[in-house]
Amino acid sequence: MTQQDAASPTGSEWWRTAVIYQIYPRSFADANGDGIGDLPGITRRLDALADLGVDAIWLSPFMVSPQKDAGYDVADYCDVDPLFGTLDDFDRMLHAAHERGIRVIVDLVPNHSSDQHVWFQEALTAAPGSPERARYIFRDGKGENGELPPNNWESVFGGGMWQRVVEADGTPGQWYLHIFDVSQPDFDWTNPEVREYFRGVLRFWLDRGVDGFRVDVAHGLIKADGLPDYSPPADGDSMGGEDDDVPYWGQPGVHDVYRDWHAVLEEYPGHRALCAEAWLPTPEKTALWVRPDEMNQAFNFPYLTTEWDAAALRKVISESLEAFPAVGAPATWVLSNHDVIRHASRLALTAESPQGEGIGPLSAAQPIPELGLRRARAATTVMLALPGSAYLFQGEELGLPEAVDLPDSARQDPTWFRTNHEKYGRDGCRVPIPWEAAAPAFGFNDSGASWLPQPTDWARFARDVEAADPDSTLHLYTRLLRLRREHGLGAGTLTWIGDEGDDVLAFRNGNVTVIANLGAQPIPLPSGEVLVSSEPLTGDVLPADTAAWLLS
Ligand code: GLC
Ligand code: CA
Repeated sequence: MTQQDAASPTGSEWWRTAVIYQIYPRSFADANGDGIGDLPGITRRLDALADLGVDAIWLSPFMVSPQKDAGYDVADYCDVDPLFGTLDDFDRMLHAAHERGIRVIVDLVPNHSSDQHVWFQEALTAAPGSPERARYIFRDGKGENGELPPNNWESVFGGGMWQRVVEADGTPGQWYLHIFDVSQPDFDWTNPEVREYFRGVLRFWLDRGVDGFRVDVAHGLIKADGLPDYSPPADGDSMGGEDDDVPYWGQPGVHDVYRDWHAVLEEYPGHRALCAEAWLPTPEKTALWVRPDEMNQAFNFPYLTTEWDAAALRKVISESLEAFPAVGAPATWVLSNHDVIRHASRLALTAESPQGEGIGPLSAAQPIPELGLRRARAATTVMLALPGSAYLFQGEELGLPEAVDLPDSARQDPTWFRTNHEKYGRDGCRVPIPWEAAAPAFGFNDSGASWLPQPTDWARFARDVEAADPDSTLHLYTRLLRLRREHGLGAGTLTWIGDEGDDVLAFRNGNVTVIANLGAQPIPLPSGEVLVSSEPLTGDVLPADTAAWLLS
């Protein structure tokens, strides 16, 4: 098979075992030096990803957007934001990726648009009850003069979920719903016009040759009838909630939308992936998002949020390997993305840090850098041996930590503003990544500009530095990906090895034995040739916070 064939749309159900690398375009590589990464930057740096050995890339949104939520506020779904380049730049990037055998998934944001979307602008000037308003969720307020929001829902980013508008005649008017920022009005997915519009958006990108879609907030599109009041449990987080009946998450009507989308993808030859971003508390609930005729994959956030604890990991891995295959889907695995604290920091914090809060200089929870990196390397060594598909987030292959010390003035996440600086939010995982230690902006561009400042000590994480060091995190990832492919681990079957002790995670996948020591004391290494280990090994022991693969 040639490289081109390897990424051609006629390939098999490649997503079942794929390792998919998330590119956060504004922070990956900046070709024109304005401080914001772009599509030509991605094209130039694709060889690095081919060397790393990933199967596909997923690009966070690069469509036209006022960037109020870093592109997750889309004003035109069928064009590229000039910040990132042009549609021609996209086509060139896609072609260059396919030439290297790398498939390309784009991010689709169907729950809400930007308030700058032409439909929302039309809705604002149209009258209550008009077809223009019916594309979004407008309601009259409560109270004598409609001065109170239609219900008590709270935005994921803080504050209320409703915003009152001023009607065309200058009087205070209806309210519109926004699960996220006020600049992100939610569509009304019970409206057939909205459904038809998104079929067109899917076809637009499919016609250009994309290999699939990561679907933003996939569980949020349909809201419960009557929009009943709801207060999240005090200990739940805003994206998930243990509660079964969150009136804006996981409503059954959503599945109908994805059956419809699945049918659109089937109009095209070959196999493409639909991946759901659905924050749910258990693998069982997450698996409701994948069906042979709906989504192909759902991010395994219960796995991501599991702490560094052998029993907890064994449980979530077992549950995942039960729940996803039971509905004909691969299990998926993920440790980092653009919404969470990077796992090289998250896995060794001095205190708890609730999901979505982020960490900053004044947080009670602070990372222990060396321990965090060590655990992160071990965690990834475990993850890449698991059957199914795995997601990587740009920079984790360099062992990048969360940037904790960003100056307040640099922060851009709406969470930071909507909580009056109470939650730091997600900027710390979004800092532009380092390529060359000695170059301006560590090679992110050649001007030295960077939309979020890079920590001054990041030269040590630069790709060229790590490429020259055989013990680097980059070499570890490259080895893991090569061996995962050679041993067919993505398509394998996991069998637990139970007798290694409470702090040990041990399993077999095909002819590979995987063992991870999550305890504080070294343990004996099983017999067999060591294929790869997360730390250099000496003697027949596996040190604390270390994982290894052995030929069995
Ligand atoms: C998803 C994205 C996140 C964004 C939110 C609203 O959770 O991953 O970055 O802020 O949706 O679109
Ligand atoms: Ca740029």
